[in-house]
Amino acid sequence: MSETITFTWKDRTIELPVVEGTEGEKAIDISKLRKETGLITMDPGFVNTGCCKSAITFMDGERGILRYRGYPIEQLAEESSFREVAYLLINGELPTRKQITRFSVLLNDHSLVHEDMRQFFGSFPMQSHPMGILSSMVNALKSFYPYLAGTREEINTTVTRLISKVRTLAAMSYKISKGHTVVYPRPDLSYCENFLNMMFDSPVRPYKMDHDVVNALSVFLILHADHEQNCSTSAVRIVGSGRVNLYASISAGIAALWGPLHGGANQAVIEMLEKIDRRELTINDAVKKSKDKNDPFRLMGFGHRVYKTYDPRAKIMKKVCDRLLDKLHINDPLLDIAQTLEDIALNDDYFISHNLYPNVDFYSGIVLRAIGIPTNMFTVMFAIGRLPGWIAQWKESMEDPEWKLNRPRQIYTGPVKRDYIPLENR
Ligand code: ACO
Repeated sequence: MSETITFTWKDRTIELPVVEGTEGEKAIDISKLRKETGLITMDPGFVNTGCCKSAITFMDGERGILRYRGYPIEQLAEESSFREVAYLLINGELPTRKQITRFSVLLNDHSLVHEDMRQFFGSFPMQSHPMGILSSMVNALKSFYPYLAGTREEINTTVTRLISKVRTLAAMSYKISKGHTVVYPRPDLSYCENFLNMMFDSPVRPYKMDHDVVNALSVFLILHADHEQNCSTSAVRIVGSGRVNLYASISAGIAALWGPLHGGANQAVIEMLEKIDRRELTINDAVKKSKDKNDPFRLMGFGHRVYKTYDPRAKIMKKVCDRLLDKLHINDPLLDIAQTLEDIALNDDYFISHNLYPNVDFYSGIVLRAIGIPTNMFTVMFAIGRLPGWIAQWKESMEDPEWKLNRPRQIYTGPVKRDYIPLENR
């Protein structure tokens, strides 16, 4: 028999069903609460609120576990490729050889963007943030590729088109911002190789592909590929719940990711480490300021809404960082600062008692710097990685038999009814 919770309010008693997931997580289903009692629930920041059932990603914040479709993140980072993980997230199963070949062909076929879209880049002011540009460009894709839905094959085409084009748009925006010639995608290169080539190849200095750099990029993207109902994914689902098209929903996700408390943290971490490196801030002052309730400063790259232990992605990212810097013979002073900061914070009572550990963003910026990605493109890299997750979640919500337009309630705290006062009497 399924479990229920008995809820009593004044003279009403109702039974609320308990919903259980495959990993034993439980939730009280309150969908009939308002209808039967007139009450709503209040949960600022949705700290205790589940908004859907999902079969895509499992995370356990207490035990530091992350799995995509059941596969541990550690195994995927070690043995898989970003292309394969994207397929897994979107389709639910690892691809067969035939399926991954077909997916690669589609990624290649859809990698070019409409030439008219190039003009848009020239219209943004020079100082525009690449996240703002990317969000606008992805929204604009709908006008260039209006046909979206239909058969499963047609939906796959749209999805693949988006994954492929976002990578091309990101590299194009970088080249154009530097005033350089745009480099087109090549059919002989893999997903990650193509991105690096489009970013860094130039007519006067051909880009030399390094297997370790390609691998570091692939792992970076895999680690960011999904993270269940985080801020940007929720934005994608909420916007999508109005039955808007995929491009517009993803554009909203990119905008949400931009914030420094979410995806923008990777840029904010490097800016904080650089400040320490330039001696504008000491490590001790950074720790002290972050503990001061009257100071808005936070140790960037520390803390997580769900993880109350070391973020499993941060562990992998740190290993990738050490390996890459070693291989490329890079002695980045920011890595030493980060390690000292981490040691101090992990032994500090405040960080221990608040369960604050490094998150994925703490070391990712150092990896991206080593690859050659400019700081203002860091969050764009996160967006390229998160795209398969957003798409998978959007698809899942569209196919959900319990689908509803997302529309939270509120408790009104403004003035009670009052009469209009004509201007001359105010
Ligand atoms: N430095 C110092 N104190 C912190 C930090 C931090 N980085 N993070 C949280 N705290 C403290 C808060 O001040 C609060 O203290 P209090 O209870 O004494 O008032 C307590 O820890 C809980 O913090 P909340 O903000 O309520 O927790 P929440 O779950 O909302 O925050 C968040 C999560 C936003 C990620 C937060 O830890 C933070 O701001 N971190 C820095 C930014 C960052 O690295 N973001 C990337 C997150 S990962 C990602 O999105 C990819």
